[in-house]
Amino acid sequence: MRTVTFFKGDGIGPEISDAVMEIFAAAQVPVKFEIFNVGEAEYERNGKLIPDAAFASFEKTKVLLKSPITTPIGKGFRSLNVTMRMKYDLYANVRPAKSNPAVETPFPNTDIVTFRENTEDLYAGIEEKISDDEMHSIKVITRTKSERIIRAAFEYAVKNHRKKVTCVHKANIMKLSDGLFLSVFYEIAAFYPQIEAKDMIVDATCMNLVLNPKQFDVLVMENLYGDIVSDLTSGLIGGVGLMPSANLGKDMAMFEAVHGSAPDIAGKGIANPTALLWSACMMLDYISLSDYAEIIRRAVDKVMMDGVFTTPDIGGKSSTMAYTSAIIHEVKRIMEKVA
Ligand code: NAI
Repeated sequence: MRTVTFFKGDGIGPEISDAVMEIFAAAQVPVKFEIFNVGEAEYERNGKLIPDAAFASFEKTKVLLKSPITTPIGKGFRSLNVTMRMKYDLYANVRPAKSNPAVETPFPNTDIVTFRENTEDLYAGIEEKISDDEMHSIKVITRTKSERIIRAAFEYAVKNHRKKVTCVHKANIMKLSDGLFLSVFYEIAAFYPQIEAKDMIVDATCMNLVLNPKQFDVLVMENLYGDIVSDLTSGLIGGVGLMPSANLGKDMAMFEAVHGSAPDIAGKGIANPTALLWSACMMLDYISLSDYAEIIRRAVDKVMMDGVFTTPDIGGKSSTMAYTSAIIHEVKRIMEKVA
């Protein structure tokens, strides 16, 4: 039995967390969760956004499944997601956007994986108030951190039989910072002659993603561009409710849905748990429990294909609970067949 840390988050976090845990139980996944409440409500209860015991658990288990957490805008505490990524140097944010045949979009057969650098750029948190009317945010790009994310993207491409890696940048304007990222990209690309290496300016990338997403394969980029462009790629496949992610460090990893805490639908029982569930499946691959991930993925595909129990964000009419029950039913059916 493998122990994994689980942050339940807030907004829709608890609803989709429960769904994932129920599906894991049905699939008899040999994972024991150490569960922690984190976020604003936890702060009001115990004076800490993330309890010390939760950090300690992650430091021990090295693997974290995290559901979304609300971040106040323009004030208050620093994003807990950014905190976790920085504190544990989870530098590679991997965001696969793969079309699902059950979800109709104008962009069928999209299959793009974004590698987002997770620990520097404008997210370094270096902000300075010059006066009431002038604020500065410093963008930090370093050779070491560029090298490791770019190498991670090429290594992924090789292992997963992908053909092309595109570096997304704005080196025409930010000649020093993005210029460094781009030149490091071609230095690393030279070690992977079997993979096509291309680069594209970020604004042109956005247009081309919408005009012809099939031209893209693996993308690698700095933190801010990765944040924005990966949301765009999630739109191509039907929305953030369907997009998982992994935040990988040297020997620790955090898995989370790309979406936020969706306060507009929290408590209504209609949140789509798929992105968190698929993130949990990426986690199972990471800890060498892919057989269980495959059972869950097959069950989700079947329920989505049937289309009877899907949630409103992808055009269905079902609740989170009804969708979860349908997946559990399917998981049990697959397991009986296998047995
Ligand atoms: P959001 O991703 O929470 O919501 C955007 C839209 O997508 C909303 O209409 C929402 O209802 C819908 N949506 C998101 N997830 C869904 C799901 N699973 N099922 C069905 N519909 C879903 O983005 P928003 O509203 O900008 O952010 C809300 C809060 O979440 C903010 O405080 C933000 O900082 C935080 N956030 C947290 C993240 C994390 O914990 N990893 C990531 C992104 C945002």
